[in-house]
Amino acid sequence: MIKKCLFPAAGYGTRFLPATKANPKEMLPVLTKPLIQYGVEEAVEAGLNTMAIITGRGKRAIEDHFDISYELEHQIKGTSKEPLLNEIRSLISQCTFSYTRQVEMKGLGHAILTGETLIGNEAFAVILADDLCTSTKDSVLKQMIKVYEKYQCSIVAIEEIPMEDTSKYGVIAGNLVDGTDDTYRVTDMVEKPDPKDAPTNMAIIGRYILTPDIFDILRTTKPGKGGEIQITDALLEQAKQGKVIAYKFKGKRFDCGSVDGFVEATNYFYNKQN
Ligand code: G1P
Repeated sequence: MIKKCLFPAAGYGTRFLPATKANPKEMLPVLTKPLIQYGVEEAVEAGLNTMAIITGRGKRAIEDHFDISYELEHQIKGTSKEPLLNEIRSLISQCTFSYTRQVEMKGLGHAILTGETLIGNEAFAVILADDLCTSTKDSVLKQMIKVYEKYQCSIVAIEEIPMEDTSKYGVIAGNLVDGTDDTYRVTDMVEKPDPKDAPTNMAIIGRYILTPDIFDILRTTKPGKGGEIQITDALLEQAKQGKVIAYKFKGKRFDCGSVDGFVEATNYFYNKQN
């Protein structure tokens, strides 16, 4: 059973400067909730209750968010504002949060390896909070857990993207399995290829389930695209043994790491709420 969810959250968020100068990008709100809270809610909905967060310098607001603020609680107790804290209070009571710092920014693979100390020797989920996902039925992570239960190997969530965007994503190639139309056994994966080098237009989005052997692979993974240690390269090692499944999720994803995607998500959730 998967219980732990890792949130790499040490990045600088340079695309949102100056907003992210002193404020973590994971704390930028879509309506009234910070991005990372949507991620934690998705994990809880998928049955996970142990949150492992990779932070860095300037990220203390994340820890404060998932903690009680006695002064604030005292101020609004019994007022009409009190219910505004219900959702976050409920998350805090259902989950444990642990943190470790990524001291140097050496890529997503490096961030995930930094989390080994919080994860140990068990399969775990990874959520990149700036990919905000929504769906009408099961959350994207919950859908992936079902796929994991069947195949018992690493799972990546994928979506079809315009071919000209392949250089923004990890891209996979694979073969459909078991007569499905949404589940592929991965045969190749490339981090941010030029469109001319991309094997397909199937892009990895920020949801993963990883088996713990990924840590040993990451320890020996050489820096790849951008001089960074890439999770895509480590996953390719598992894929060579037939141990990665790509799952075309049902739902919608917003790239809240970009201003356009962030505005789109804001409009979407605003219209939904009203
Ligand atoms: C990371 C991964 C990439 C993946 C993307 C999903 O890139 O390296 O393979 O497609 O997340 O959001 P980043 O967006 O952190 O540059």
